[in-house]
Amino acid sequence: MDLSGKVAIVTGSARGIGREIALRLAEAGANIVISDIADAEPVAEEIKKMGGQSLAVMTDVTSASDVAGLVGKAIEKFGRIDILVNNAGIARDQLLMRMSDEDWEAVLNVNLKSVFLCTRAVLRHMVKQRWGRIISISSIVGIVGNPGQANYASAKAGIIGFTKTIAREVGSRGITANAIAPGFIVSRMTEQLSEEQKGEMLKRIPLGSLGTPRDVAEAVAFLASEEARYITGQVLGVDGGLGGL
Ligand SMILES: NC(=O)c1ccc[n+]([C@@H]2O[C@H](COP(=O)([O-])OP(=O)(O)OC[C@H]3O[C@@H](n4cnc5c(N)ncnc54)[C@H](O)[C@@H]3O)[C@@H](O)[C@H]2O)c1
Repeated sequence: MDLSGKVAIVTGSARGIGREIALRLAEAGANIVISDIADAEPVAEEIKKMGGQSLAVMTDVTSASDVAGLVGKAIEKFGRIDILVNNAGIARDQLLMRMSDEDWEAVLNVNLKSVFLCTRAVLRHMVKQRWGRIISISSIVGIVGNPGQANYASAKAGIIGFTKTIAREVGSRGITANAIAPGFIVSRMTEQLSEEQKGEMLKRIPLGSLGTPRDVAEAVAFLASEEARYITGQVLGVDGGLGGL
């Protein structure tokens, strides 16, 4: 997959899955805008060491003015935006009866409102270019639900409806919109689980192992490529078969 000359914005890419996506797209030759509320400079430096071009922009994706600043800086530096990866996300788990208004709003804002703000901000540029890729990281939880995650599951399900709508709105302009629904991916969260909890999890996964950030990044790289030109409005599970059960 050759992404030479393409410019990608990856939100929440200072660490975790977002960082891996940024590195993978850079490997494919894209210029990368790393954006996060945390310090994104180290990942931008990693990309420069790989011989790629990158820009770090501190961004709170729930703020329309921050997002406008992010897109403005990306255009100023690279002159175009071809790929947007909506990856930033948080979880604030609680059973519904105990869930606070704040935990509902925070999760909906970071995981779903951000997708609206970032996609709206880049579309104008993609429409002009008549080429674009919107790739949003949903979750298997948005499809099957999960106790304690009503806020997170609602946001991740919202991403799917949003993606299918955008795919219809801008398909005629050469822009595709797809979602990825990861299952259990090795992360800070899964590292904190006990061996027993991990064992229980693994029993439910047909392929018998947790996924890695790289597994998600490979799916993003494919959907971002020219090879995926005829794929839009889809939800691609990266879950070892979990969602197919
Ligand atoms: N890890 C999993 O098993 C898993 C499974 C399914 C889906 N996902 C989704 O994948 C994405 C990445 O998850 P991860 O495990 O790498 O999480 P992570 O917590 O390691 O990384 C999330 C990144 O988003 C950033 N972020 C948080 N709030 C932000 C804001 N307001 N503005 C900008 N950046 C912000 C964080 O600083 C962090 O760098 C999330 O959308 C998550 O919901 C993860």
